[in-house]
Amino acid sequence: MANNSITVIDNRTGNKFDFPIVQPTIGPDVVDISSFYKNTGMFTFDRGFTSTASCRSNITYIDGGAGKLMYRGYDIGYLATKKTFLDATYLLLHKELPTKEQLDNFNLELKKRSFINESMKKLFDAFPDNAHPMAILSSAVAALSAFYSDSLDMDTPEEVIEMAHRIIAKIPTIAAFSYRYSKGLPVIYPDLDKGFTENFLYMLRAYPHGYVELKPIEVEALDTIFTLHADHEQNASTTAVRVVASTQAHPYAAVSSGVGALWGRAHGGANESVIRQLEMIGSVDNVDKFIAKAKDKNDPFRLMGFGHRVYKNFDPRATILKELRDKLTDELDIDSHLLEIANKIEKIALSDEYFVKRHLYPNIDFYSGLILNALRIPKEMFAVIFVMGRTPGWIAQWVELKEQKDMKIARPRQLYLGPLERTPKS
Ligand code: CMC
Repeated sequence: MANNSITVIDNRTGNKFDFPIVQPTIGPDVVDISSFYKNTGMFTFDRGFTSTASCRSNITYIDGGAGKLMYRGYDIGYLATKKTFLDATYLLLHKELPTKEQLDNFNLELKKRSFINESMKKLFDAFPDNAHPMAILSSAVAALSAFYSDSLDMDTPEEVIEMAHRIIAKIPTIAAFSYRYSKGLPVIYPDLDKGFTENFLYMLRAYPHGYVELKPIEVEALDTIFTLHADHEQNASTTAVRVVASTQAHPYAAVSSGVGALWGRAHGGANESVIRQLEMIGSVDNVDKFIAKAKDKNDPFRLMGFGHRVYKNFDPRATILKELRDKLTDELDIDSHLLEIANKIEKIALSDEYFVKRHLYPNIDFYSGLILNALRIPKEMFAVIFVMGRTPGWIAQWVELKEQKDMKIARPRQLYLGPLERTPKS
């Protein structure tokens, strides 16, 4: 038995099987069970992948116990407070933070690609009024493969970078168009004189002739939100992107599957649900009633913005956003009524045994909703904002997967509990 291995004993037969232990740079050791079925004739079962490392990755590290998050070795606190979203995007894609010149060039490359094919407007036109912007966004991202059908195979590094730039540059435009079409508003084209985040807010808010009110603090706050969302290792939407990419599907299909996965309330849809829930609770006097509902095992109600699969002490992104929210309270119009309800929920949940015992702390979505509200971003755009932030992460993970020579199609097995073969009646 090798030192760097683990032995599994089948107590039914006494048979022993050795599996190698692989060491990460940091984090828990990993047992390589890729030969488990071949050696034992059994599958492993891991509902929700709570104990499974699904890939090798160099991009993002999370220590859920210590509340630590790093992109390419840089702490999220440093990136969110000292760097911009484009710095973080460049870092995720190119593995290093950019120099001033590299950042300027990168910005220019994105600006050049920020317009979308005019014919795509027919696609937006086809959606009914009040369609959810996420519905439009996911379709429009998938449709990019029809409008930009050159080099879908991405055989060269240049083609890969071209694709990465295209998607990162076009998603804000598609996102803003999705919102404006959903409200029957005329679209606003990108303004090349504006920075990445400022341009997005401009496309979202401006009047048709271009008039817009934008405070620098609003742009800064949104930029921070984007940075905090930029990657989060193998979360559900990134896993969706990787699974689709593992079939050799083109990246537009992979990213649109990420958009779909992110929309769910348990993931990126939570920030919209937080605000809707605060509005539903309606008054601080009702908070106790809803806390009781969240604790009731027979009630499916969950407190939105609480709990996380990986963070079990605190979510470092939430800590940064809480500070930002407090800073913005003095400078922007944070809804004081909703803030009062949120503060009471937070206070109770942080001391209530049910939440403490289960390590249910406020997550990023608990704070981002109120900030986005104060930035006058409509609720139905909250998940879209999450998509815009997460896109560089999805692309970096896609590129990493593409570069791995021993990449295999993702094809899990199952614990079958259905009927045995049945004899047809006739
Ligand atoms: N309110 C009340 N109870 C909860 C909550 C909640 N928000 N979250 C978890 N629990 C309870 C759950 O009922 C279970 O209790 P018990 O052990 O008695 O059965 C226990 O806590 C563990 O929950 P779980 O569902 O097994 O945990 P998970 O790791 O599978 O789910 C989660 C994580 C984030 C999906 C879940 O906590 C949740 O639904 N939270 C609300 C939605 C939310 O805020 N999502 C945003 C996550 S952060 C953004 C992102 O990265 O996507």
